[in-house]
Amino acid sequence: MSTIDRSGTFTLGDRTVKRLGYGAMQLAGPGVFGPPKDHDAALAVLREAVASGVNHIDTSDFYGPHVTNQLIREALHPYPEDLVIVTKVGARRGADGSWFPAFSSQELTQAVHDNLRNLGVDVLDVVNLRSMFSVHGPAEGSIEAPLSVLAELQRKGLIRHIGLSNVTLAQVEEGRRISNIVCVQNQYNVAHRSDDRLIDELARNGIAYVPFFPLGGFSPLQSSILSDVAQRLGATQMQVALAWLLRRAPNVLLIPGTSSVAHLRENFAAAELDLPKDAVVALDGIAAHAPAH
Ligand SMILES: NC(=O)c1ccc[n+]([C@@H]2O[C@H](COP(=O)([O-])OP(=O)(O)OC[C@H]3O[C@@H](n4cnc5c(N)ncnc54)[C@H](OP(=O)(O)O)[C@@H]3O)[C@@H](O)[C@H]2O)c1
Repeated sequence: MSTIDRSGTFTLGDRTVKRLGYGAMQLAGPGVFGPPKDHDAALAVLREAVASGVNHIDTSDFYGPHVTNQLIREALHPYPEDLVIVTKVGARRGADGSWFPAFSSQELTQAVHDNLRNLGVDVLDVVNLRSMFSVHGPAEGSIEAPLSVLAELQRKGLIRHIGLSNVTLAQVEEGRRISNIVCVQNQYNVAHRSDDRLIDELARNGIAYVPFFPLGGFSPLQSSILSDVAQRLGATQMQVALAWLLRRAPNVLLIPGTSSVAHLRENFAAAELDLPKDAVVALDGIAAHAPAH
C-alpha cells in the first residue's frame, strides 16, 4: 500500500479517487499569472504526484491563464486510465492578472473548449462552476442560467460530471435541482470552518467536498495549537492540518497545492498521520480563536 492509499477513497462522479490529491494552481507564475519560474520543476511536481499514486488533480484554464492545463498536458498526457482531472469555469483574467466573472453562455462555452484543447482531451472529467458574485467568498445569487449552460454542454458529451465552487448551501440546493452535482469546492481548513454544516449535508448525500486553501492558501496557517500538536506528534504543521481535514468527514477530498516536490512528499505523508482524540479536540479549538470571516 502506498502512502497516499492510506488516505482512503471516495466517489467522485462515476470514479473512485484517493482522498489525497493535488491542486495545480501553485504551478503558474506569481499571482497565479503567467508561466512558472522553473518550467521543469513544475513538470517534476506533476509527475511526482502521479508516481506517488495521486489520481485526482484540480486545475483551471484561468490559472496562468492556460498555464497549469498546458503543464498538466505536457507532464502527464496520455493520462493514466484512473486519473480524474477536475477543472473549473466562471472567471477570466485581465491583462494585468485581475479576475473577472465570466458567466455568459458564450464565455462558459469558450472556457469548456479552452479546457478541452489545453488538457488535450475529448471530454472533461469534472467541471466546477465557480461562482463569482462576490470577491470575498460565497454570496447568494441564482446560478440557474450558467449551470444550465454547463448541463447543455454535458448533454453534448463535452463534460462527464458537474460540480460547484465558492457556493452557499442555497446555491447547492438550487444546483441539484438543475443537474447532478458530484462535488463542491469551497474555502475550508482547520481555522476557517464556515462550511461545517454544508460538509455534513453533502456527506449525507454522497457528494464530495473539496476544500480549497486547505493549508491557508496565500496566508499559510499559523497557530500555536497547530504547532504544539505537530511538535508532540513529530509531524509538520501542514501535515497536521491535512490529517485533521482527512478526519473531518469521509467525503472530504484533499487538493493541497505546492510548487515543490519536497512539500508534495511532506503533504502526502499526512495520510500516515494518526491524530489522537485529544489532538483533534485541541485542533477543533483553533477555529474558535480565529478571527471571524
Ligand atoms: N475554487 C476556487 O476558487 C479555488 C481557489 C483557490 C485554490 N483552488 C484550488 O485549491 C488548491 C489548493 O489551494 P492553494 O494551492 O491555493 O492553497 P493551499 O493548498 O492551502 O496552500 C498552498 C501554499 O502552501 C504552501 N505549501 C504547500 N505545502 C507546504 C508544506 N508542506 N510546507 C510549507 N508550505 C507548503 C505552498 O507553497 P510552495 O509552493 O512553496 O509549497 C503554497 O504557498 C489549488 O491548487 C487550486 O487547485 C481553488
